[in-house]
Amino acid sequence: MRKKLLLGNWKMNKTPSEAKEFALGCPKMVEYAISKGIEVGVAPTFVCLQTVKENAPKGLIVAAQNCNEHPSGAYTGEISIAMLKEIGIDTVILGHSERREYNGETTEKCNEKMKALLAEGMVPVYCCGESLETFEAGKTKPWVEEQIRGGFAGIEAKDAAKIVVAYEPIWAIGTGKSATKEIAEDTIGFIRSILRELYGEVAEDIRILYGGSVKPGNIAEYMSEPDIDGALVGGASLALDSYQGLIEGLVG
Ligand code: PGA
Repeated sequence: MRKKLLLGNWKMNKTPSEAKEFALGCPKMVEYAISKGIEVGVAPTFVCLQTVKENAPKGLIVAAQNCNEHPSGAYTGEISIAMLKEIGIDTVILGHSERREYNGETTEKCNEKMKALLAEGMVPVYCCGESLETFEAGKTKPWVEEQIRGGFAGIEAKDAAKIVVAYEPIWAIGTGKSATKEIAEDTIGFIRSILRELYGEVAEDIRILYGGSVKPGNIAEYMSEPDIDGALVGGASLALDSYQGLIEGLVG
């Protein structure tokens, strides 16, 4: 059985004091989610990771939004996996469309980072998704297939099971135009079929999230679909009351 997962992607939002306020305010809802068998987490900026880790309940997953694939060295402005590990971080988002667009993050780079994370026993949350142009041209599936095959290249089945995939159509991110549950399920079911081809039964253990304008009011719809295992949420994960609404929607 795949455990449902709610992960808040805070992007470039919240100063350390604001992040701490969230951490101090979330214990009850985290406890509630866990009692319902749901995993919950947030991905703050690097400078907020430690304060969230120190002030939030242990059950809250605290994820980074990126990492570097090299162990250490002359990579100005970068953050290594060892640095994250030392402050207790074990989950890292990779290949978000904003990083692909503004920071030149390629599928090949994500694949290197994914392998480096898995070698350290960490959990990669690998994002994929198509632009509006690709969607309107009816080319979503070949686009996403390339991102999935490239991202998982050379990764063995035992490691693949640990990876979380997030399908986020770019046209739905931050636009208020969420994909319908049918569109999300169609693509996510397709992603699982590729994973099945690559890994056989292990594909049934790989969690695949939907992301793109998920709100407390629409999260339950996605959860009714068989292949959707949770959500990666941006804007609606920032405020405590909205985050609580997401948990309630997920619980159903
Ligand atoms: P959104 O962002 O929920 O604000 O659309 C989702 C994401 O980018 O992960």
